[in-house]
Amino acid sequence: MIVCVCHNVSDRKIRQAVDEGASSMLDLRNQLSVGTCCGKCHSCAKGILRERLDEN
Ligand code: FES
Repeated sequence: MIVCVCHNVSDRKIRQAVDEGASSMLDLRNQLSVGTCCGKCHSCAKGILRERLDEN
């Protein structure tokens, strides 16, 4: 599923980034540019980030 349409970032990519050490929205912004355009994906991306951090 594409989470960030502006930058074509999928939920899978977000989980992968978390597995590789990303632990905040700032990390995701820096690594994947998630949320840096229209911002509509922010809450969805944050949810996936939190879920993955809990799992790990
Ligand atoms: Fe992610 Fe627009 S959908 S910044």
